[in-house]
Order: sequence, then structure tokens, then C-alpha cells
Amino acid sequence: MEKLKIRANGALNGEITISGAKNAALPLLCASLLTSETLHLTNVPMLRDVKTTQKLLQGMGARVLTDNIHEFEINCNSINNTCAPYDLVKTMRASILVLGPTLAHFGEAQVSLPGGCAIGSRPVDQHLKGLEAMGAEISIEHGYVKARAQRLQGAHIVMDMVTVTGTENLLMAATLASGTTVLENAAMEPEVTDLANCLVKMGANIQGIGTPTLTIQGVEKLHGCTHSVVPDRIEAGTFLCAVAMAGGKVVLKNAAPKTMQTVLEKLTEAGAIIETGENWISIDMQQRPKAIDIRTLPYPAFPTDMQAQFMAMNAIATGSSKVVETIFENRFMHVPELNRMGARISAEGNTAIIQGVEELSGTTVMATDLRASACLVLAGLVASGETIVERIYHLDRGYENIEQKLGNVGAIIERINDH
Ligand code: EPZ
Repeated sequence: MEKLKIRANGALNGEITISGAKNAALPLLCASLLTSETLHLTNVPMLRDVKTTQKLLQGMGARVLTDNIHEFEINCNSINNTCAPYDLVKTMRASILVLGPTLAHFGEAQVSLPGGCAIGSRPVDQHLKGLEAMGAEISIEHGYVKARAQRLQGAHIVMDMVTVTGTENLLMAATLASGTTVLENAAMEPEVTDLANCLVKMGANIQGIGTPTLTIQGVEKLHGCTHSVVPDRIEAGTFLCAVAMAGGKVVLKNAAPKTMQTVLEKLTEAGAIIETGENWISIDMQQRPKAIDIRTLPYPAFPTDMQAQFMAMNAIATGSSKVVETIFENRFMHVPELNRMGARISAEGNTAIIQGVEELSGTTVMATDLRASACLVLAGLVASGETIVERIYHLDRGYENIEQKLGNVGAIIERINDH
């Protein structure tokens, strides 16, 4: 089982190159199912979840070429199987993103229900409700969603809550439906916008991109295109939190500051000096961070995927803070692990109160989900003694070469493998 061994090593200084966004790459890979032509994606992060999606598409009969660095070419002209099997879906909930495009292009799809995960039950009722509104026959049999539709029909859909992959599934399905689809209360996350921009390059007709109302005129077919994945705002935010905690001066390259306004504002409030350009962000932190209150909400408000990382910063900040998690019902799994490192956090329901302490103490901690594991790495960067983070397969799902990227700016962080 691989682990990360981390020791505090003072301030972080230098440059980090940000990878393409995991949460954009996954729907973009699935968008290849909408056309019989080749989709060429660049700036794709080499992550476990990307490899899983590649396996999923290949299992359906897609031809996937990759340089195993950052480029993919996918052609779904030879799809011979419209089923996304449980053994892959159980390792990655985002597999549900094959449902909309497969149904829209091939008239049928069977996708294993993803089931819950550490941070919540993660239902997909909005995905199914929207597809039914577009005329799909949906049944749940033996843990699989089975969907059929001669041709999807445009519909006016109001989502009951903001759902990122729900919006993405319905957006992709609507591009090939006959007639007009209106998606209200749609997610506006930058990854949704990136997908919509790629679909337009493929020939889709989408109005309202970046707003809560998407209007899609269905077309007969989509063609291939070349698209570069938007930079990962959560990876960038994670490294900015690392510097806010350890101190130092770091420049993030290939970043997208325009997609990170609330995170940059909160870091400035914490005492960091932030400067940005078109595709770079610099952070200069020469003081202990001030405690910052956080409430997670859909974009453009503060992202839930940055909650755990800010909790690590608040754990060693001056003063006390309140963190409210409004998106997922169980996203405080990092709290007991941080408390084992000497943090003083009390969580009740979806609210956590953090009393900042001078210093955390290193120990062995266990990751439970992707962002919780990132939070424990950040804590290890500033804790006294040695921190061992176990179950880092969670981390590898969403961070490309995290130990190299942090090591390059001065962190002492090593991947160890004890059998
Ligand atoms: C996406 O998950 C991201 N994953 C998550 O990132 C992110 O945390 C989340 O959006 C919120 O921003 C990908 O994009 C691959 P939701 P998603 O549907 O789409 C409820 C990470 O760390 N809901 O926006 O699954 C749901 O239970 C991951 O990179 C329903 O009730 O999240 C949740 O409480 C973690 N019914 C809320 O809505 C539905 O049909 C938001 O979930 C759909 C969602």
C-alpha cells in the first residue's frame, strides 16, 4: 500500500505548473461518445480517474490513443457495447457521465448505479428525471440504469438542485435531441463551461453558457474537434493553501485565475499577497494565516472541493473560524484526522468550528476521499515531526505528481511503498 511521508521544511518557494482540470477532463472524454469523428483533447491530466475513463470507453469499443503525457484522441465510431460495468463505475462515480451521450447517440445505455461514496449518498435522480423529461424510458434493474430512446426530444427542465454532472449529462444529451432543451438552475462551474465550449466546437448549438439557464437547439450530428482542458482550479487552490500555511513565495503557471475569484479573495483575507495574470497566479505569504470563515455553495461561490484544504489552513491560523458545508452531507471526514494531529476542531452536522493552534504534530493519518487526503498532505507540510498519509490512492485520483510538484518548491515529501 503506497503512502506519503512528509516532514515540515519551512517556506515554499519557486514555480508549479498546474495540470488540466480532472472535473473537466472526465466529461470531455465522455463527449467523444456524441460523434463518430475523432475528439482530440490536450492538457489532459494523467490521473487515475482519467485512466479509468479511458478503460470505460475502450470497454465500450472506443478507440483511444494517448501519448500518456497530456494528449488523447478518442474515436467512438466503433462502439459495440453501450454498458458501463459496475467494476469500473464503483471506482469512479463520474462514470455516470457516459449515460447522457451514449443514450443520445446510440439510442440506449446501461450504466451501473454509482452508489454512494465517503462524502455522501450521491444520488443521480436529477440525471434520470431530466432524461425522462426528454422522452427516455428509464428502468433500474439489478443495480443498473437501463435507458432507451428512439430519439430524445427537447424539454424544459428545472433542476431541483445545482448538480455539476447532472447538468453535464443533460447538456450532452440535449445536443443531439430533436428540438429545444432549456436547462434551468444549471451548474455554472468552469468545468461545465469548458464542456459546453467544446460541444460548441463540435457543432452543438448552446446559448447561455456560464449562466444558470442553458438553451440547447438539438442538431442531427456532431463532428470531432481539438480542445484543451481548462486548468484545474482545485489543484491550484490546493497549492495556494500549501503556501498560505507554510509561508513563502510561489508562482503557479498554466493556471486560470478567473475561475478562482472566491478562493483568491479568501486567501487575501487570510493575509496572503496574491497577484494574477492571464494564466498565472503568484502568492506571497510572510505571516501566519488569519482564520477565515467559509460556506461552500455552487459556483461562483466558495467551492466544496476547497473546503478541506481551507480547514487545514484554519487549523493553524490565528483566531477561530467557522466552516459550513452545504453541498455534501458527510464531507468532514478529515476533521478527526486533523484532530489527531493536534487540531482543535469541533464538527456538528454541516458546521465545524476551528480554534487555530500554533503547531500541529505529525503522525500517521488516513485519507478517506480525494480532498480530505490533500488536506492531510497540507497539514503534514507544517506539522512537527513526521506525517505519514495512508490510502493515497484517493490522492492519485485527482492530483498529478503531487509529491514532485510540492518537492520542487521545497517540501520534504516522499512516496513510500510498504507491502
Ligand atoms: C461534481 O460531483 C464533482 N465531480 C465533485 O468533485 C464536486 O465536489 C461536486 O461536483 C460539487 O461541485 C466531478 O465533476 C467529476 P453534484 P457531482 O451532482 O456532480 C446532490 C472532487 O473532489 N445531487 O454537483 O457528483 C448531491 O448529492 C469531486 O473532484 C442529488 O441529490 O456533484 C450533492 O449533495 C468530489 N441528485 C449535490 O447535489 C442528483 O441527481 C451536488 O452534487 C445529483 C446531485
